Amino acid sequence: MIQILPSILAADFVRLGEQVRLVEAAGIEMLHVDVMDGHFVPNFTLGTPITESLRRFTNVKLDHHLMIEDPDTYAPIFIKAGADCVSVHYEVCRNLDRTIHMIREHGAQAGVVINPATPVALLENVLDIVDYILVMSVNPGYGGQKFIPNSLRKVKELARMRAERKLAFAIEIDGGVGTENIAEAAKAGVDWYVAGSSVFHAPDPAQAVRDLRRRAEEANFTKV
Ligand code: DX5
Ligand code: ZN
Repeated sequence: MIQILPSILAADFVRLGEQVRLVEAAGIEMLHVDVMDGHFVPNFTLGTPITESLRRFTNVKLDHHLMIEDPDTYAPIFIKAGADCVSVHYEVCRNLDRTIHMIREHGAQAGVVINPATPVALLENVLDIVDYILVMSVNPGYGGQKFIPNSLRKVKELARMRAERKLAFAIEIDGGVGTENIAEAAKAGVDWYVAGSSVFHAPDPAQAVRDLRRRAEEANFTKV
């Protein structure tokens, strides 16, 4: 099921509520919330007060991307604050299987994220317990970066493993996604598309969401 997830990192925080209403009007079902700790990535972003405010304000699912060193401590805190989906980076999880189960036991959908330099093969033993895999198509830390084309090779590999093993996890992509590359991503097998700058920096964010969705759906429909 194709989902466009506007990333609020690219929103104007002074007008966050207004911007969320704009993309809701385009029928989004999920929002992407980037949590950065200044250690795993060289930037700080959002904490639980934003999650709590969003939870009170909207019914769409809040997808939390934890770019932090200690997801085991903070995942439950974000779930309590209102996160519906929580993804953790493969690169920081020493006991990944335990972390995934812990997120699900707290009542959220669990995702695992891989950086551009991390191979898909390392996920082989968790694919049957995750709800989704997030393939980073930029190095995490900032919005507005250039899409790394090799990420689509990784998406294809994941989609092939999913089909071979008859699994049902969703494949998400994050970073540099826009109308110029979303069709190719759809053909590779992506289900969930995070879009920051291409939505919130567009003159009409709702129209930007609709354009992205249409292109992804058309490409998905015509894929061989
Ligand atoms: C980057 C974040 C992304 C970011 C994407 O570290 O994980 O979610 O908001 O922004 P764009 O779409 O502008 O690349
Ligand atoms: Zn993200």
